This record gives sequence, structure tokens and C-alpha cells, in this order.
Amino acid sequence: MSTSETIAIESARMPPFFAKTPISIDRGEGVYVWDEEGVRYLDLTSGWGVTSLGHAHPAIRAALAEQGARILQNPDSGLTHSPIRARYLELLAGVLPAPLTRVFFTNSGAEANDAALKLARKVTGRRAVIATEGSFHGRTIGTLSATGQARHRARFDPNVPGFRFVPYDDLEAVRSALDPAVAAVILEPVQGEGGVRVPAPGYLEEVSRHCHENGSLLIVDEVQSGFGRTGPLFAIGETGARPDLMTLAKGIAGGFPFGAFAMSEDVSGRVELGDHGGTYCGNPLGCAVAYAVLRHLLDNDVPARVEALGHDALVEMRGWLEAFPGLVTDVRGRGLLLLVEFRDEALATQVAAQCLARRVFVRQTQGNGIRVFPALTIEPAELAEGLATLRAAIAAAADAGSTTAG
Ligand SMILES: Cc1ncc(COP(=O)(O)O)c(C=O)c1O
Repeated sequence: MSTSETIAIESARMPPFFAKTPISIDRGEGVYVWDEEGVRYLDLTSGWGVTSLGHAHPAIRAALAEQGARILQNPDSGLTHSPIRARYLELLAGVLPAPLTRVFFTNSGAEANDAALKLARKVTGRRAVIATEGSFHGRTIGTLSATGQARHRARFDPNVPGFRFVPYDDLEAVRSALDPAVAAVILEPVQGEGGVRVPAPGYLEEVSRHCHENGSLLIVDEVQSGFGRTGPLFAIGETGARPDLMTLAKGIAGGFPFGAFAMSEDVSGRVELGDHGGTYCGNPLGCAVAYAVLRHLLDNDVPARVEALGHDALVEMRGWLEAFPGLVTDVRGRGLLLLVEFRDEALATQVAAQCLARRVFVRQTQGNGIRVFPALTIEPAELAEGLATLRAAIAAAADAGSTTAG
């Protein structure tokens, strides 16, 4: 098949939900991908924070082949036990933040959040949920109702009722929205889609404290920030916050569609037979891949690498504030979840286009931002190459802008 045939079929056969890039990707290896014509690109998006070990990682390929030759889906699905699921549960239990001890599996982040919201209502007997402005929790009717971006919610009225939105990183706002009707607060420890917002030190711990004083649960959405993306294995890790429920997906299985939600012993003790389920819910193939990913992250101390790489990248990016005054208006992030903010959306669009012309994928975010979130296994030289290209793209867009203006 040629690129033009692929594009023609996909355009004709898929609903128009995405404004697609006219590139057809055939294969990948590490942080590079090749299109159908054999042109190589550097992927600084890791497929939206998913391919944490890069493309076609040997550990993932081995897990897929080995488990694929054994069994993909159990007879009677989740009603039978699975040794690979048990092994993964044991490994995961060793790294989950306290007081989380029990885990159930899903196929995506939205599904994990939907289940967490549903169960929070069930176990507290309350109905209201506090969510934050700018958040993103998924595209099911439940999770879009929890998403603090009106553009995702408005066209699907009526949403699920009961959500209260407060500004992110504003402790007083959460405190005053908490009352005896609130089942839970749901938030991302670092907002990803909302523009890579890192809260002030102490915010998450204090939200956690206020939730518990109010008898409300804290649901931490680590779908994007989890599994080393921001440095620590979980962004909530060393903050002192004590989540009652935590949701996971994206990097959990490095590209295999998988997710999970973890809960405390207390929450688990308040759910009942039949409260939740699903056809796949910890499918052996997903568990095998997730096991291989977590094993690799731990054995290679990937979180420490991410911390160091992210630190150096931010230092480089901070230089752009001076190099492009008035054009680059902020740089921020943690670990390998980084964002460059531009004066306006038009400039960010030009920079993204200039990157692609130089064969580098970046992700335009919230209009005027460019998100950089490569595989966690990216080599320093590869990251440097990507950042040099992004810098050159900014310079080219700035030149084009001044030429146009002149
Ligand atoms: C923080 C967060 N939660 C939930 C989701 C939804 O995950 P999924 O697309 O796997 O349903 C996303 C996706 O971007 C996300 O960033």
C-alpha cells in the first residue's frame, strides 16, 4: 500500500474526529519511526505519553511473543485466575504509593477514571465530585463530565450531574467547595492535556488532608503522569498525599492498550461483588506486557534517568525565553513531560509545522503550547537532537513571522 492509498482509505472509512497529519507510519524503533515511504522521524510525543520504552522494545516484543504463545484471554474471563496477572499484581503492589494495595484492570485511562468515579459515589453514598479547571480525564460520558475544559463537555449536554469545578493548584478553592455532599476530589498530580501544569509544593498533600477531614475520597489520575513520566514512578509519590483511588493507563504497558485503578484496603472493603467488571479486566496479554514494562523501569532505574534528562532539558528550554523574547512566554514541566508556551496559537502552529518539516513529531497543546514527552528511554543525544530541532523550528517560525510582519 502507498501513503496516498492509506490516507484515502482512512479518510473515507473513518469518522472525521481527528485533523490528521498526512503521514502514514509503518514502523518504529526506539524514539524513531519510519513512514511508508521509508522517511525517518524522531518521535517526541511517544504516541501521547504511551510508548514509554520506545517503539518495538525487545522486552515488550518478548512479552507479547511469550504470552501470545501461551494464552491471551482466560476461559470465563476474569472469573478464572491467571499466574501472569498475579505476578504483575505482586510487582505493582511493591511500588504503589500508600495506602493503595488493591488493583483492578481496564483497557484505557477513561475507563479507569469512570470506574473510580462510580465507585467513589458508591462507597461514600455521596453524589458530588470536585474536579479542576483545565483537567482532562477522558472521553466517556462520565469522564468528559469530570473534565475541566468546556469545549469537551459542552457539545454532549446533558453531562453527568454533580461535578463542581475549581481552579487547579488553588487549595482554598478546593477547601471551600468541600461539603458533606462531596464523594471525591479527582485531580491530576501534574495536569498534562491542560498545558503541563505543575502544582505548588504542598498542594496535593493539603488537598488530601482536606478530603479526608471531609470524609471525601481523593482520586489521583496518574494516567499521563504515572510510570516514570515526571521522574518518580508516580508523580504523587513523594508529595505526602494519600490517594484513596489512583488511575493508570498510557505508559503502563508501553503501547499495548491497558489501564488500571488502584484502591486502598479501606475502599476495597466498602465495594461489593458485582460493583464492577468487564470482559478484559486484566487480560493475561496486557498483564504480561505491563509486567515487562514495569520490570524494565525498575531494573534500569528509569525514573532517575528521567529526572536527570528532564532537568537538563528544562535548563536548555529556559534559554529560549531569552533567545526568543516575547515569542516564547514560558517553559515548564517535570521529568519528560515538558511544555514550551508561545505568544499565541498561530506561532505554536507554525513551530509544530516547522518541526514536522524537520522530521520531528511534537504535540501542540492548549493552542499556544508545544508538549515534549518522548520515550523515557530516549538517549541524551537523541533528546539533544530533538531540542535542537525544536529550537531551530522556533527560530524559523520567528523569522517567517518577522518577514510576514515586515
Ligand atoms: C490525565 C489523563 N487522564 C485520562 C486520560 C484518558 O485516557 P485514555 O485516552 O486512555 O482513555 C488522559 C488522556 O490523555 C489523560 O491525559
